[in-house]
Amino acid sequence: MSTHSEIKRITTHILQEMKGRGEKISMLTAYDYSMARMVDAAGMDVILVGDSASNVMAGHETTLPITLDQMIYHASSVVRGVKRALVVVDLPFGSYQGNSSEALRSAIRIMKESGAHAVKLEGGSEIKDSVVRILSAGVPVMGHLGLTPQSIYKFGTYAVRAREEAEAQKLMDDAKLLEQLGCFAVVLEKIPAKLARRVAEEVSIPMIGIGAGPHVDGQVLVVHDMLGINKEFSPKFLRRYADLNTIIEDAIGTYIRDVKNRDFPNEKEAY
Ligand code: KIV
Repeated sequence: MSTHSEIKRITTHILQEMKGRGEKISMLTAYDYSMARMVDAAGMDVILVGDSASNVMAGHETTLPITLDQMIYHASSVVRGVKRALVVVDLPFGSYQGNSSEALRSAIRIMKESGAHAVKLEGGSEIKDSVVRILSAGVPVMGHLGLTPQSIYKFGTYAVRAREEAEAQKLMDDAKLLEQLGCFAVVLEKIPAKLARRVAEEVSIPMIGIGAGPHVDGQVLVVHDMLGINKEFSPKFLRRYADLNTIIEDAIGTYIRDVKNRDFPNEKEAY
């Protein structure tokens, strides 16, 4: 059995090497200690403390309401459960768009108070100054292009992005800009597979897809979606690896029955 000190941590440099040798990068979200421990123990390369916590943990319709304090709470819980994976934390809506000083302050709070290893920001040229400022403080930055859920009220829909040439060209330009600024990777969300493939070929840093087809450098999903904890969300790109909703509801139903029937606790379960 390996000890903590023997485990080689995943770094941004290792991710770049993985892209170089064509090894796919695995990435999954987590928001709490117990789930993060399981995701890490399974061998995940990158754990994202996504602002999707706003949806799956807090029950909000969008990612907009979650606060920086709440993200730090989730991130510090995750960090305590992780021994190997690189932990990346979303900067929440409103914590980096105002100006670059605010962005830097938010990123530093996340790094200092949670112990995470990197931050993720949504957008391209619009947030260039914030990306530069955060990177200048030595904080690794992951970009996020395509369907950026913090802009959902601008898009008006969760439909596939960048189908039209102008938006596809802007996405390509933004990916190249983020590479040039020094980002270590970019999430490409819900864009045509052909475009994602071109971006992954033309940009040297890893492109991590979600609904972006197979020809990118890695894949990310929301853990509640892929484990079937959530049943309502069923986009085409989602593969369900378990039906935990049914398993959990059945187990809880059995417990309720056992309590009502006076079957639980039995003599062996009492002091
Ligand atoms: O918040 C999140 O979970 C994300 C992923 C969908 C990439 O940003």
